Amino acid sequence: MADNRPIGVFDSGIGGLTVLREIINRIPGESTVYFGDNGRTPYGTKSHDTIVKYSLQDMKFLESKDVKMIVIACSTASAHSFKTLAKYSKVPVVEMVYPSSKSAIDATRNGKIGIIATGATVSGGTYVTAINELADGKNIEVCQQACPMFVPLAEEGWWDNEIAHLTAEKYLESLKDFGVDTVVLGCTHFPLLANTIGDIMGPDVKLINSGVSASNVINKLLDEKNMRNESGEVTREFYTSDDVTKFEAIAAPFLGEGLPKGTKKVSVDGFSVEDML
Ligand code: DGL
Repeated sequence: MADNRPIGVFDSGIGGLTVLREIINRIPGESTVYFGDNGRTPYGTKSHDTIVKYSLQDMKFLESKDVKMIVIACSTASAHSFKTLAKYSKVPVVEMVYPSSKSAIDATRNGKIGIIATGATVSGGTYVTAINELADGKNIEVCQQACPMFVPLAEEGWWDNEIAHLTAEKYLESLKDFGVDTVVLGCTHFPLLANTIGDIMGPDVKLINSGVSASNVINKLLDEKNMRNESGEVTREFYTSDDVTKFEAIAAPFLGEGLPKGTKKVSVDGFSVEDML
């Protein structure tokens, strides 16, 4: 049995486009609906309750677009709201933390993994829990570093300039001192700064992109649940809760292939989720 409906992808802004890009590259036959909550970004400085509420509203919006799967393309939302979304979603939910943790465990040679993420993700400790659960007897040490300033730099399109470099130097010092050989880009905005982060960490340190890890999970799920799009038609829809022109201008050079186009502005504030909190 096929399922020709699109896959729904959401993030607090443009970060989830790093995940969407991997989905498009690796699973090109699937249609997608992307929602960037640019109007309420960042999530990483918000409280647990607010992140869960926003994520539920994002989920509701995607459900209104009749998606067959929801991808939480935001590590902060994944870390805080995956359990709640999985409980209330009518369709399968894929998150970012466990897939990228597994990739990091597989990649590390010296057992020292760095996690860079938003403040809310680091303080929630979900990556540490995930790595401990998945380590399977492997001796792993984790060094976490919150890098909240990377989010506005990414949203601004300042991915590879002097300010991004100076900020990265400061944030990544602790990971270098710790001797990590693998770094999880534990926020989906961060692959936009991968060149800068890679320059500072050096060529021997492996950077883990959650979008790549999550795409493998999505691919598997499509087979397991027999949900592939077999219509031969592929559509790409984009929505933002803030300015459309700014969203498209920042996203276009990254996404390429003439995308995003036809982005619509929407508000998801009106979705009532109080009974799920
Ligand atoms: N893209 C985000 C993440 O993966 C969120 C950044 C933010 O909104 O603070 O954590």
